[in-house]
Amino acid sequence: MKVLFVNACMRGEKSRTLTLCRDYLQKLKEKYPEAVMEEVDLNQLEIELQTGDVLEHRDELRHADRFDDGMFDLAKQLIAADHVVIGAPYWDLSFPAALKNYLERCSVDKLTFIYNEHGAPVGQCRAEALTYITTSGGFIGELNFGFDYVKGLGSVLFGIEKFYFASAEGLDIVGVDVDSKLEEAGAKLAEIVREI
Ligand SMILES: Cc1cc2nc3c(=O)[nH]c(=O)nc-3n(C[C@H](O)[C@H](O)[C@H](O)COP(=O)(O)O)c2cc1C
Repeated sequence: MKVLFVNACMRGEKSRTLTLCRDYLQKLKEKYPEAVMEEVDLNQLEIELQTGDVLEHRDELRHADRFDDGMFDLAKQLIAADHVVIGAPYWDLSFPAALKNYLERCSVDKLTFIYNEHGAPVGQCRAEALTYITTSGGFIGELNFGFDYVKGLGSVLFGIEKFYFASAEGLDIVGVDVDSKLEEAGAKLAEIVREI
């Protein structure tokens, strides 16, 4: 089993979201000791923004079936994963832009998804499930745009069927017991690992 951790925890070691992600990955590893863990650290990786020029270059490669180009490595890595974990803090009602940039880089017609004869995209990802982990300063409530977007993209274009969500919320509210919020989220993550 190949587990791909997409790390969009932009505050690095200071990130509470990263703490939860590590807890989840460790629990997964305990359950599946043979699992191979891969990480894409979006703090370290500089993915070009998909400007017009970049897109034109990508289209040339796509139309020539040149999927051996390094530009498609991230998409291929995502396709090959058996389980995807995304860790991203709740920023401006969704997630950091680096994650959107990564997802754009991975969404490739004829690679991540292929249109069938009815014009519907058929996702090519092996992963059955994706787990999305976040923390927020306030409470997310109905405004879960980050996770909802990932769920939409993952199901419609990538072909992933199951989505799990865990969060620790209210962490920046004065008086909130941050440790106990993180512990509660840890319990939810343990539940998810039991299901996977
Ligand atoms: C740029 C930025 C935008 C944020 N936007 C929101 C927001 O829209 N709603 C919210 O409740 N908290 C927001 N927060 C607070 C973070 O969600 C919260 O501090 C979170 O725990 C940070 O995760 P981290 O510790 O993994 O970095 C924001 C923080 C930053 C730095």
